[in-house]
Amino acid sequence: AASHAPAILTAREATVQLAPDGYPATSIWGYEGRAPGPAIRVRRGERVQRRLVNNLPEPTSIHWHGIRIDNAMDGVSGLTQEAVAPGQAFDYDFVAPDAGTYWYHAHNRSWVQVARGLHGPLIVEEAEPPQVDREETLVLDDWLLDPETALIDESFDNPMRMSHGGRIGNLITTNGQFDPAIPVERHTRLRLRLINVSNARIFPLQLAGLRGWTVALDGMPLATPEPLEGVLVLAPAQRADLIVDVTAEAGETAHLVRLGNDDRPASQVAFPVSASAARTPRAAPAALPPNSVSGLGSLADARPLRLVMSGGAMGRMNSAVLGGERLGFRDLAARGRFWAFNDMAEMTQAPLADLSLGERVRLEIVNETVFPHAMHLHGMHFREIRDGRPAGPMRDTLLVAAQETREIGFVADNPGDWLFHCHMLSHAESGMMTWVRLT
Ligand code: C2O
Ligand code: CU
Ligand code: CU
Repeated sequence: AASHAPAILTAREATVQLAPDGYPATSIWGYEGRAPGPAIRVRRGERVQRRLVNNLPEPTSIHWHGIRIDNAMDGVSGLTQEAVAPGQAFDYDFVAPDAGTYWYHAHNRSWVQVARGLHGPLIVEEAEPPQVDREETLVLDDWLLDPETALIDESFDNPMRMSHGGRIGNLITTNGQFDPAIPVERHTRLRLRLINVSNARIFPLQLAGLRGWTVALDGMPLATPEPLEGVLVLAPAQRADLIVDVTAEAGETAHLVRLGNDDRPASQVAFPVSASAARTPRAAPAALPPNSVSGLGSLADARPLRLVMSGGAMGRMNSAVLGGERLGFRDLAARGRFWAFNDMAEMTQAPLADLSLGERVRLEIVNETVFPHAMHLHGMHFREIRDGRPAGPMRDTLLVAAQETREIGFVADNPGDWLFHCHMLSHAESGMMTWVRLT
């Protein structure tokens, strides 16, 4: 209820040391000149007010990813607001209805602007947060840099990458640092908030010297904390909240390990362990308090929608419609379109569906391509539907593997125009973007 001027978030150019020592510094675009930008932290139910000041050479906007807010604050340039021109400002003002780990990022030319560094964490604390010794937000990212100069590779529109797995970087960072280390004491209990802000990289993660539980995904608490014994797959835009106990001995190093098929397992974050003062092992954590997202209830009367994803250079790219014309692969590629949703290689004036408030929706997502896609719905969380029933946690981004069909359901309870797109951002730009209208 304060009437003072909102805090300022300036989007600007800056020079930072991303690559390991001995390499040149990198010129980025960042909020307050940092990548990740400053963490915004509020309590559940509190108001977030930020004035975006655009000091970049091109228009921009901020999207608050995963937060169920008023459509006018969703920050999608060209759909929910006009992009903020260089030298101009825009005031974002909303209440954070749910606790959890969210993030904010540019939503104008996002395949370029997010890759240049325009993203940051948005943390909404529970009224009564779980008891831990320490909390760390870990922003996982990758950068595509020129190996000689460490400057950002500006071939954002590279057709090979766009039509394949997207823009995968050659320098992996955590909180903007290469290979960081977080010293801990044995038996420390940590809450780790993981956020994948990369353009296209899927992070398969594992714990070593740490015992952990997943307590929330995409900000939404799991009904029961799940022991993290196998691999945690974090697709672009996804988040995971972990409660982790340091089990490695003093003098050892625990790791958040990154697996990869082209790579040997590597350390994403190292935790050098020292002797503990007076810490002892603890029991499994309790579940986080639930958020207020509408349950799906019965699906009997749910509206069925179908979304068929096609395209990519390695599959048979079906022809698709662009600007009212049906074009073949060559013509689409020449116009920078490599993907299609329901045969449309662009986001059109018409929504995928007109929904009415309170409607239950089931959306079948058919991935006909030979690539995985990270499908994200703005403004509302969904649940997966398996065998005709809601199953698994609430999410805002779902990884759909190559050739796989998955079904999600949600209650259309937030009026406005909401995007549904692949969060591999060059895919979104080259055809994998649509929207629903809810009135
Ligand atoms: Cu985080 Cu439309 O995206
Ligand atoms: Cu979003
Ligand atoms: Cu995709």
